[in-house]
Amino acid sequence: MITVRDLSKVYRTEEIETQALENVNLHIDEGEFVSIMGPSGCGKSTLLNLIGLLDAPTTGSIEIDGRRVDGMKDSHLAEFRNRTLGFVFQSFHLIPSLNVLDNVELPLFYRHVPSKERRRLAEEVLARVGLSHRMKHHPGQLSGGQCQRVAIARAIIGNPKIILADEPTGNLDSNMGAEVMNILHSLNQEDHRTIVMVTHNEEQARQTSRIIRFFDGHQIN
Ligand SMILES: Nc1ncnc2c1ncn2[C@@H]1O[C@H](COP(=O)(O)OP(=O)(O)OP(=O)(O)O)[C@@H](O)[C@H]1O
Ligand SMILES: [Mg+2]
Repeated sequence: MITVRDLSKVYRTEEIETQALENVNLHIDEGEFVSIMGPSGCGKSTLLNLIGLLDAPTTGSIEIDGRRVDGMKDSHLAEFRNRTLGFVFQSFHLIPSLNVLDNVELPLFYRHVPSKERRRLAEEVLARVGLSHRMKHHPGQLSGGQCQRVAIARAIIGNPKIILADEPTGNLDSNMGAEVMNILHSLNQEDHRTIVMVTHNEEQARQTSRIIRFFDGHQIN
């Protein structure tokens, strides 16, 4: 489902050059739930952002769902990203001025899905994450765990094959974190979505199908 070959990323500013990833090779099969672990600064978010087409590699290639995506034109990239990938971030990245329903509908808005259909699908995914009773709330009126469940609903409304989650429970207490993990496991096991999750939590990582460890821009297992 995801194949990365000889992937490197160098961040350059006028003064400094940071090699965030160096010659990374990995393959993730359809239906896997993979954890990415490693110390702060080792390149985990960089890798996720490259796989998520949010940033471009310095060298190397990325294949997602059978398509070579590095070098894809921006217009195609946005469309491909919208249809194939769902994102969940540590700090939720919800839009504070929009209510829960509107936040969740957003990816379909960009796809020009008619409003009735958007609403129907948003209600469906919000039920899936147990938030049918909070649809008119704004993010500021929700707990952290609820915000992350809204973000997951937004990530899956477009029915993506792949979910990329960067420390999805990093801002949550252990109970709320466990709820979020339960939802991710159900999206993997029941819906067969491929999940790549960055985490610092060994216990959560052990519950996934495989752990890939990084150190200083290199994969170490
Ligand atoms: N936009 C950027 N410009 C310059 N350097 C960057 C940029 N983004 C990341 N880096 C550097 O690249 C390296 C990898 O960063 P990255 O964010 O991928 O680490 P991480 O493994 O996700 O860490 P954490 O666990 O703290 O989130 C770090 O040394 C970081 O300082
Ligand atoms: Mg990070």
